[in-house]
Amino acid sequence: MSDQNQARVLRVDASMRHAGSQSRALTDQVIERLRRDRPDLHVQVRDLAEPGLRFIDEAWISANFTDPAERNDDQKAALARSDALVEELRQADTIVIGAPVYNYTIPAALKAWIDMVVRARETFRYTEDGPEGFLKGKRAIIVFTSGGTDLGGDNDFASDYLRYILGFIGITDIEFINAGGLAFGAEERVAAASETIETLAA
Ligand SMILES: Cc1cc2nc3c(=O)[nH]c(=O)nc-3n(C[C@H](O)[C@H](O)[C@H](O)COP(=O)(O)O)c2cc1C
Repeated sequence: MSDQNQARVLRVDASMRHAGSQSRALTDQVIERLRRDRPDLHVQVRDLAEPGLRFIDEAWISANFTDPAERNDDQKAALARSDALVEELRQADTIVIGAPVYNYTIPAALKAWIDMVVRARETFRYTEDGPEGFLKGKRAIIVFTSGGTDLGGDNDFASDYLRYILGFIGITDIEFINAGGLAFGAEERVAAASETIETLAA
């Protein structure tokens, strides 16, 4: 049975490797840090390297832009996976994302996940005053890893995008754990990121 007061984390791993993944090791540590203050922490894992993640396609787009009351069974089926991913996000108080830089931006799998959860009517809407994100009151912790791209540097096309798109759906409390530039000294940069993780508030 789900406990209304239980702290809930959605952990999204976007590294396409398991062995040797620095971002997974650091997201592990983020979870451990949060669990220290909330031993009852419930963690939902969404591992984007697992098979099953799909791109949005023609059927998805057509179904998504059909009024929910008018959707036929095929259209409902086309959105089922996306509905489940949105629900996972809704349920979470905190979203922890392991985000390596691939080709100067986020991994394609993370973009595919974003396309599944950024949905008109479900996670945002347009108003006369502009877009409104529905996922308010949540916190995001993003572990940023890279070989050489510095967090916030000229060739970092990942972090601003993540900040923007999460904000677009209402998630504006965002902290980055910086493990960028690992090719220039992984040990010390991972150690610095670990120290930052230890300072995270529960
Ligand atoms: C396909 C691919 C593309 C990459 N592109 C970049 C890049 O553009 N800039 C960069 O600094 N590092 C790049 N890297 C290095 C990764 O960001 C770095 O190894 C990071 O630690 C990967 O995260 P992980 O250890 O969790 O797998 C790339 C790695 C891969 C596998």
